[in-house]
Amino acid sequence: MKSSKTKILGSDDIGTAVAAGILRDGGLVSFPTETVYGLGADARNDTAVAGIYAAKGRPSFNPLIVHLADAEKVTDYVEMTPPAQKLAAAFWPGALTLVLPIKPDAGVSKLVTAGLNSLAVRVPDHPVAHAVLAAFGGPVAAPSANPSGRISPTQAGHVVSGLGGRIDAVVDGGDCNVGVESTIVSCVDQPVLLRAGGIPVTAIEACLGLPLRRDENPDAPSAPGQIASHYAPQGKMRLNASYAAPHETWLGFGAVDAVLNLSPAGDLTIAAANLFGMLHELDAMGAKHIAVSPIPHHGLGHAINDRLRRAAAPRD
Ligand code: TXA
Ligand code: MG
Repeated sequence: MKSSKTKILGSDDIGTAVAAGILRDGGLVSFPTETVYGLGADARNDTAVAGIYAAKGRPSFNPLIVHLADAEKVTDYVEMTPPAQKLAAAFWPGALTLVLPIKPDAGVSKLVTAGLNSLAVRVPDHPVAHAVLAAFGGPVAAPSANPSGRISPTQAGHVVSGLGGRIDAVVDGGDCNVGVESTIVSCVDQPVLLRAGGIPVTAIEACLGLPLRRDENPDAPSAPGQIASHYAPQGKMRLNASYAAPHETWLGFGAVDAVLNLSPAGDLTIAAANLFGMLHELDAMGAKHIAVSPIPHHGLGHAINDRLRRAAAPRD
């Protein structure tokens, strides 16, 4: 527990300067990125990073992504392999996280890597994230700003309802427009997809000129955060539903008469942007049983289906 009151900061120069000051003092600040809100701490400060795990109630085997203001800074922390260079040039700043061999003198807390000899790095494409990172000037460890096992936040209000009172501040930068987390590719050896996300896999394959190996097996995750029930609203979810039974709340997609609809027009980009917000809404409505329309398996549909499968997975 960091503090009893969570400050809401504006996204102007004053707000981002205050946020950078809190990070410098070893505090916890949530800030918007183009994917979801992150919960940031100085990645070099063990106590600060431990604060992230504490605030989230996150299992300690789950390593964190380091966020940097500029792509040129990454070589201070990791070895850039040739495929990683190609991907960074094509997609940074943006919704891509690269896992790379960590440099011995990276100076990053072991809690960030959870003991692995690789490090996940990302340069976000969001003016407020960039302003906070640039004002701070160092590496910021930031998982999604939700309590562990709960839905990722896409608005400052989601952060406050999940972590209010447990973190120092939230910089309010409005809605996240991508709405799902970054795509994670490990370039430690041959490129491997660890998590589907905001950048479509096809775009990554086109950039690399080869098919991407996949390693998303939830039973043997090499992205240890990929536990099956990670994205879970309170209600029980039934996927690929073509109707809702009387006791169910329908989360629709396309031209169906649902209580909430990810995209009535059947647009996957809009559905991705709405996904976590609507899962939060279902929680707020107290929905106990949720029927979800089928989502097509192409483009961002892979990431959406991946999130829904995890949300629907059996849990204790
Ligand atoms: O879009 C995003 O990526 C957001 C925003 C805030 O940047 N962050 C995010 O972080 O989704 P988080 O902590 O919720 O998910 C990070 C994932 C986890 O599944 C973790 O296991 C994996 O990245 N990861 C981190 N470091 C890793 C490493 N060295 N090797 C393999 N997987 C790693
Ligand atoms: Mg997360």
